[in-house]
Amino acid sequence: MKKNFNAVYEDSIKNPEEFWKNVSEDIFWFKKPTKILNKSNPPFYKWFEDGTTNTCYNAIDLHIDRGRGDKLALIYDSPITGNKAKFTYKQLKDKVSKFAGALVNQGVKKGDRVIIYMPMIPESVVAMLACARIGAIHSVVFGGFASNELASRIDDSKAKLLITASCGFEPGRTVEYRPLVDGALKLAKHKVEKVIFYQRKNSEVKLNSPLEISWEDSLSHAKDIDCVEMGANEYAYILYTSGTTGVPKGIVRDIGGHIVALKWTMKNIYNVDENDIWWSASDIGWIVGHSYIVYAPLFKGCTTILFEGKPVGTPDAGAFWKIISDYKVKSLFTAPTAFRAIKKEDPEGKFFSKYDLSSFESLFLAGERADPDTIKWAENLLNVPVIDHWWQTETSWAISSNCTGIEMMETKYGSACKAVPGYDVKIIKPDQTLANANEMGDIVVKLPLPPGTFPTLWNADQRYKENYMSNYEGYYQTYDAGHIDEDGYIWIMSRTDDIINVAGHRLSTGAIEEVLSEHQSVAECAVLGIADKLKGQLPIGLVVLKSGVDKNNETISKECIQMVRDKIGPVAAFKVAIVIKRLPKTRSGKILRGTIRKIADKVDYKIPPTIDDPAILNEIKEDLIKNNILKD
Ligand code: COA
Ligand code: AMP
Repeated sequence: MKKNFNAVYEDSIKNPEEFWKNVSEDIFWFKKPTKILNKSNPPFYKWFEDGTTNTCYNAIDLHIDRGRGDKLALIYDSPITGNKAKFTYKQLKDKVSKFAGALVNQGVKKGDRVIIYMPMIPESVVAMLACARIGAIHSVVFGGFASNELASRIDDSKAKLLITASCGFEPGRTVEYRPLVDGALKLAKHKVEKVIFYQRKNSEVKLNSPLEISWEDSLSHAKDIDCVEMGANEYAYILYTSGTTGVPKGIVRDIGGHIVALKWTMKNIYNVDENDIWWSASDIGWIVGHSYIVYAPLFKGCTTILFEGKPVGTPDAGAFWKIISDYKVKSLFTAPTAFRAIKKEDPEGKFFSKYDLSSFESLFLAGERADPDTIKWAENLLNVPVIDHWWQTETSWAISSNCTGIEMMETKYGSACKAVPGYDVKIIKPDQTLANANEMGDIVVKLPLPPGTFPTLWNADQRYKENYMSNYEGYYQTYDAGHIDEDGYIWIMSRTDDIINVAGHRLSTGAIEEVLSEHQSVAECAVLGIADKLKGQLPIGLVVLKSGVDKNNETISKECIQMVRDKIGPVAAFKVAIVIKRLPKTRSGKILRGTIRKIADKVDYKIPPTIDDPAILNEIKEDLIKNNILKD
């Protein structure tokens, strides 16, 4: 029977407990919850409080129990190395339960934290699921982060164990994890008890202390381990994301709500069934990778693809079409930047015409605003719906989307469609009142948030409350700004904090500023995200030197760039640091970052009435022209 989106949505908002109780019937529980939502201590809401379940059981064992063990669970394809592999649910269970045994042998127990710092290989997925099997909390760290970031995550999570690999492969470059791991272990105040190295073929590292063990050796006396029973509100994982300072926020995910919500999204948002082939071209280090490479598709029991490659250069702009064609992919989820990269290399879609994409039904984009040009280009080329949807690490699944499994809605280019069932999205104006249709303001979501969203921050209840739940009483503040139009379509226009989106990667300009400030010659600095045709935004740094510095500007600029690469990692894509004389400020000393960004983006700006010295804006303009940021 055809469903009506508005009816489903209204039901989820008016009767959330009934709605999610019904949805929760679809997952495996050791003990079914009788308490659906505990609202007694806002903003700390608890979904499915007295239920018990296991993430790995729902991702693997359940499908085997239901006679689907020979169905393909995971397809690995690495155009970078030429390696390919396929795993049925049964084969995945064998690998995961054995590695779970290895973790137990290393002393990992329920509730212990395990850091996974690995490339896009099947063992990374195995490690995540093995943690889930024994109730350990994993924290995956993206491979593009450097030692400092890894160390801060080790310290904050107090991880017992670190799982890594001998290396990762980026086009034209091998990412050696050993020095990065060594650097992090040296920097971290907390000491991990063991490091497991997965040795990649022909790229093994020498293990040189009793602290280290190879993946292979860790398996040698390991027994298969069954899934442990976990409380619905115990944690599945911590995923650190950029905060407004250099201290990352540990977003936690509770077990029950995560399984319930993510499984529901596969059909209702993405229209994916158990026999479909699904592909999310992201990285397991990001939320998109957690939710849509690993968990949601496996909860659903369909086939998920793990792709170790890039949209271009591995080997060409046809890489995505090849995967879709080879494995008969039904839907792909990626970031707009990936499509901008393909469009740049192959605007006429010459590579596209070489492949049979008859299986392909829809493309989903998220991570940053999908610009209408890119959406239209992709639509013309692929001849399928291209859907922009909006979400955050904090929520783990889409807040707004075209829910294609419920009812396909009309596309409005530039909008991320309507609020998804479960999310009561509002706009609040600067005067703290609710906005009318088309009025701009802060985008908020009425509490309680639906299952699967973050119940708190790791060991930081107060930060959770103050940062997200206090500015607007009774609402979750998304830190995105925009408006909702008369048809209920949500338009995400910008962030309201210092977060920028670089190639779909979330970065804090404040964190980059913290690094630049550590340079001996730098007196003060400002980092801003300027518009970039390929990556959406790129960070640039403006640095003012201490008086009496006699090093030349070029050297300082190079040193600043290297410091950001060393401390945050290559993922920051920080390639421009300009030495300037002065920063424009208000009379009270606040740096006018917004005005500088408008100048760099060639957007109209007003000279702020509170500016201390308007002449500085012209100086900045000249500096940007000199450095080719702004063409005269
Ligand atoms: N491990 C180590 N380094 C990594 C890495 C990883 N897993 N991922 C990226 N990096 C490095 C890159 O090699 C690059 O280093 P470089 O400065 O030495 O060249 C740097 O981090 C910046 O990476 P990126 O911003 O991704 O730029 P790129 O030029 O390598 O690729 C795109 C550009 C558009 C092809 C790429 O960003 C992409 O495929 N994006 C897809 C979308 C995506 O994954 N989004 C995530 C959330 S959905
Ligand atoms: P992350 O937590 O890394 O997923 O980043 C979340 C942020 O990315 C959001 O708060 C938005 O600023 C941005 N974002 C994600 N999806 C979209 C989208 N479809 N349109 C606009 N911005 C988006």
